[in-house]
Amino acid sequence: MPSKNQTPKTRLHERNRNREPYDLKALADAIPKLKNYIKVNKYGGDSVDFSNPKAVKLLNKALLKHYYGINNWEFPDENLCPPIPGRADYLHYIADLLNESNAGKIQKGSQICGLDVGVGATCIYPIIGVKEYNWNFIASDIDPKSIASAQQIINSNPSLKDKVDCRLQKDSNAIFGGIINKKDKIDFTICNPPFHASIEEAQRGTRRKIRNLSGKKVNEAKLNFSGAKNELIYEGGEYQFIKNMIRESEEYAKSCFWFSTLVSKQSNLKGIYKLLEKVKPTQSKTIEMGTGNKSSRIVAWTFLSKKEQKLWTEEW
Ligand SMILES: C[S@@+](CC[C@H](N)C(=O)[O-])C[C@H]1O[C@@H](n2cnc3c(N)ncnc32)[C@H](O)[C@@H]1O
Repeated sequence: MPSKNQTPKTRLHERNRNREPYDLKALADAIPKLKNYIKVNKYGGDSVDFSNPKAVKLLNKALLKHYYGINNWEFPDENLCPPIPGRADYLHYIADLLNESNAGKIQKGSQICGLDVGVGATCIYPIIGVKEYNWNFIASDIDPKSIASAQQIINSNPSLKDKVDCRLQKDSNAIFGGIINKKDKIDFTICNPPFHASIEEAQRGTRRKIRNLSGKKVNEAKLNFSGAKNELIYEGGEYQFIKNMIRESEEYAKSCFWFSTLVSKQSNLKGIYKLLEKVKPTQSKTIEMGTGNKSSRIVAWTFLSKKEQKLWTEEW
């Protein structure tokens, strides 16, 4: 039987570079320290210990270096380490959304501008968007340390220079206010919202995740949320964050073509659709995504009429 990392990840988008089984030799050549974390798994194949945060960080560094040519990706260990395959999927589906408005032609280049709401310390979505599609980005975050870290990553990788404009969100209740300027013309917004409503909920979620990956019980002491609190926790959780986003998007209806967000909790969808009905977009969509056993989805909406959409894309 093939080991976990030898099976193609067919749930990933067809353009996702991470669909093929991991070439651990090539990845360890890219980041030699990864070698220390490659072990034989229960199927007799080589694998990385996904329950060990150090191993996961090195694997993701190696994926970024090997597939995307990102040589410098440093950020504090206390910040979330984003799994690259799932993050890449979101951007490929956004590219498909733009293609639909452009007779199926993939839109690459700096004329396309995305806004990443909550870029985080790792700058992960802009990195993949620049490397895959050469898009430009505005990147916001509420956390000055995350903005500084994202900026540091941009500064240390020449291919990201002048492609990502980091902007600090000073009002924790605002999503677009204070970030989108009058002259901005944004082709899409993306967001991976903070998903837990409280520390307790975040701890339960993390304990479950570690237990599923390692098969071991995890005690309280192992869970340290000091630095990553903003990333995971928002009063009212994912639902409240998206509620604020939908409400505010109406105000920026003509500054942006597609608004979008990840929705990790399926149970939030019903409420989200109701909120969308209230602001009356001209179109909305739900795009299902999946990596391994985890399912997620993107909800996207636009306020532009068909005629406005056509005029918009004529400028691409
Ligand atoms: C789940 S993390 C996502 C980080 C990164 N985009 C990723 O996918 O790995 C959510 C991010 O949203 C930021 N955030 C929270 N409230 C925000 C707001 N009102 N505006 C912008 N960013 C916000 C947090 O600081 C955090 O970096």
